[in-house]
Amino acid sequence: MGDLAWGRFMYTPDQADWPIALWEDHGRVIAWGWAQFPDDLKLQVDPAHPQLLDEVLDWLDDLAAGNPCEINSLDSQEEVQTALLRHGYRRRESGPYFAYHMRDLTDLPAVVLPEGFTARVVDDEADLDQRVAVHQAAWNSTHVTTDSYRAVMASWPYRSDLDWIVEAADGSFAANCLIWLDDANKVGLIEPVGTHPEFRRLGLSHAVCLAALHALKDLGATTAIVYPRGDPAYPIPQHLYRGLGFRPYDRTRTYTKAGQR
Ligand SMILES: CC(C)(COP(=O)(O)OP(=O)(O)OC[C@H]1O[C@@H](n2cnc3c(N)ncnc32)[C@H](O)[C@@H]1OP(=O)(O)O)[C@@H](O)C(=O)NCCC(=O)NCCS
Repeated sequence: MGDLAWGRFMYTPDQADWPIALWEDHGRVIAWGWAQFPDDLKLQVDPAHPQLLDEVLDWLDDLAAGNPCEINSLDSQEEVQTALLRHGYRRRESGPYFAYHMRDLTDLPAVVLPEGFTARVVDDEADLDQRVAVHQAAWNSTHVTTDSYRAVMASWPYRSDLDWIVEAADGSFAANCLIWLDDANKVGLIEPVGTHPEFRRLGLSHAVCLAALHALKDLGATTAIVYPRGDPAYPIPQHLYRGLGFRPYDRTRTYTKAGQR
């Protein structure tokens, strides 16, 4: 669920103006759809209500109005994939995908940092500018701004004690790792991680992830998950997480529907 908060609030409101629909049963959400056209449609249906898959896909079809669509399903979600085929989607057999990894938190090694660097949590508003600057430098992108990150920090379930940075001797931020805790399931999602290009290959992303994972464990979580790219075109994050003891358990499959205009 941290992925939803991050995906929604990392963008400024003018960029994130896409339709979201909820299906409820006595006030409890049992399905939802998210229509970030053209290529980021998402849906989730409670497995106890599989009949809603068609309703959610109909809702997305109406919004698409004949334009091309793209949806990711997990490999393990067979019912979702069957419904996508029923609605005219076709599986893409190559290209980027996300490899879902998990790690038990019982045997975390100690955090080791190169001399002069320290790991600590973000101090809310006081660190906001630097926190955004290290993210922008790592991703070479200005999508995330101080305004949008302020919204991330205000969103549920963000918590600053799981937002870790590595600071260089001069006080600049060198690396960052944010974890989202799902309290009910005792699972933390790592999203995102980044190291400033000036400080790469020093072990800083490894160290900042470990520091955040220790904090996650101290909060009572038992498992961490992360979804790096699994295809060979973007291999370094997966290598980083495997080096931290994460192992794959699922992957995304991309389904596309051609435009009908
Ligand atoms: C991926 C990223 C976070 C790695 O940061 P980093 O601080 O340089 O990584 P580390 O120094 O901790 O290295 C971790 C491992 O990756 C390897 N690695 C890092 N950069 C590498 C490169 N360019 N080529 C090959 N291996 C590399 C390291 O050798 C190390 O491997 P090891 O555990 O076998 O020794 C950084 O490149 C980055 O910010 N990329 C852009 C944002 C991104 O993709 N984030 C991750 C997805 S959420």
